[in-house]
Amino acid sequence: MSTHPAFGKNKVAVITGGADGIGLAAAQAFTQLGMRVCLADIDSEKLEQASAMLPDALAIPVDVADFDQVNALREQAYKTFGQVDVLMNNAGIGRPTGAWTNTGNWQSILGVNLWGAINGTQAFTQAMLDQHSPGLIINTGSKQGITMPPGNPAYNVSKAGVKALTEALQHELRNTTDCQLSAHLLVPGFTYTGMIRRFAAEQPPAAWTPAQVVHYMIEHISAGDFYIICPDNDVDRATDNKRMAWTMGDLIHNRPPLSRWHSDYASAFDAFMADDAAP
Ligand code: NAI
Repeated sequence: MSTHPAFGKNKVAVITGGADGIGLAAAQAFTQLGMRVCLADIDSEKLEQASAMLPDALAIPVDVADFDQVNALREQAYKTFGQVDVLMNNAGIGRPTGAWTNTGNWQSILGVNLWGAINGTQAFTQAMLDQHSPGLIINTGSKQGITMPPGNPAYNVSKAGVKALTEALQHELRNTTDCQLSAHLLVPGFTYTGMIRRFAAEQPPAAWTPAQVVHYMIEHISAGDFYIICPDNDVDRATDNKRMAWTMGDLIHNRPPLSRWHSDYASAFDAFMADDAAP
């Protein structure tokens, strides 16, 4: 299968959160494809380390929560390369929150994870459309923004917002005349990155590497998929499909929210997961 033309030689990728984890793995994979890359990250120490690995990359310190900085990133990228073919709105953070606690963490998480993707979309889309060439906007969501597991509501809200934003963006793009730009929602499974290294010194057996996620992403975007729902070493696609269907079933069957984690529904959920005929 051929790869999407935006992943071609000399094409340009701007990657937020590009100094570590999935963003850095994307930068490495794109470089191997002959692309030129711009790493945008808030952490200047990590940016320096990433630049040492990818000496030809343009490294720009950016806080994606700040629209003016994202606008300046676009200006710098176009000044340097004259084009942007792939934008990955990928920067993300996780911090503890509760529904009625940790206000500061709510603001930080929504600022980076959701506003970061909104800022990137607002700052880059028109310029990428004006190129009239094949292009991709890839926003990194999460399964937590689809199935809403309890534990970190701000993270779930931010990633549910990224999903809604990316779906709307793709709808608008496909209704734009002569548009060669498409949007995609990258939904990694459990992936061993900087975010996880803080809690686990070694890669947990369940986790994929960031390189596996990026390989899967390139393959599935090239196949034309909008939703790039990555498996990991514990969770296959059939399991994800059932979990997503159960979540939607809360609304359809008038169950309490998050019934997957409600003791009254534990046996019904287990039976649903064990039923090969269930979606
Ligand atoms: P990571 O921590 O390795 O990389 C995230 C990068 O974003 C870091 O380099 C960090 O410095 C940068 N960043 C943080 N705040 C920023 C800001 N305000 N402006 C610019 N850059 C900023 O983590 P990972 O896992 O590679 O995260 C990438 C994306 O994948 C995130 O959106 C995350 O929510 C998402 N994700 C990760 C999963 C996992 O299991 N690792 C699972 C599902 C989604």
